[in-house]
Amino acid sequence: MARVIAIDGPSGAGKSSVSRQVGSRLGFLHVDSGALYRIMTWQCLENGVDTSSEDAVAAFAGKVKIECVPEDGRIKYLVRGEEPGNRIRTPDINAHASQVATVKAVRDRVTAILRSLAAFGDLVVEGRDITTAVFPDTPARFYLTASAEVRAARRQKEEVEKGIARQSAEAVKASLLARDRIDSTRKYAPLVKADGVMEIDSSELSLDQVVEAVLAALPSAWC
Ligand code: DC
Repeated sequence: MARVIAIDGPSGAGKSSVSRQVGSRLGFLHVDSGALYRIMTWQCLENGVDTSSEDAVAAFAGKVKIECVPEDGRIKYLVRGEEPGNRIRTPDINAHASQVATVKAVRDRVTAILRSLAAFGDLVVEGRDITTAVFPDTPARFYLTASAEVRAARRQKEEVEKGIARQSAEAVKASLLARDRIDSTRKYAPLVKADGVMEIDSSELSLDQVVEAVLAALPSAWC
């Protein structure tokens, strides 16, 4: 049975950096579940699917072909043989992804893909519903958070560094809070801190400190 480290939390809490590092320290594959919701959103937009129509998105959800390939310590996603890269990181995708992620058919599809990845080996999976819905029974569950200001500053820096966008800190914060609201109030698998999940507030912590906190809390046989 593959071992799974589940890490949930809002946008910009540092989940990706922490998951990547924890994965590389332990030899667990890093799985970015948000990228799957972003791919679904990107494909809806590319194919003219009205993302505000639940029925239209649900009907389209099964048609998106995503290939999952383990490579360089992570699961790589291919759409028509290509990695989507920054095409799924734009402000336009940010603005539509939360909406698409409310649709049950989309969530069911992504959840099935995520669970199937355990066939590749041990995983560190980051997202919004990994601790509650996708892998609720794993003994290693974390809720990573940080203040809205810190999260917005991190996202803004990342967007500039990757050449994705140049938005003001205020605009980044507003978009992030809007997504938080949709993600945590939706009907299916909302973002919540479940009982028994270890909460880490990374506002005042370095990346190394958060990684060490996660490693220290794992079952001792895993490290
Ligand atoms: O982590 P991210 O910003 O790349 O996530 C993109 C969107 O997908 C975000 O609106 C939340 C949603 N999401 C989700 O609903 N469940 C997950 N497990 C991961 C992401």
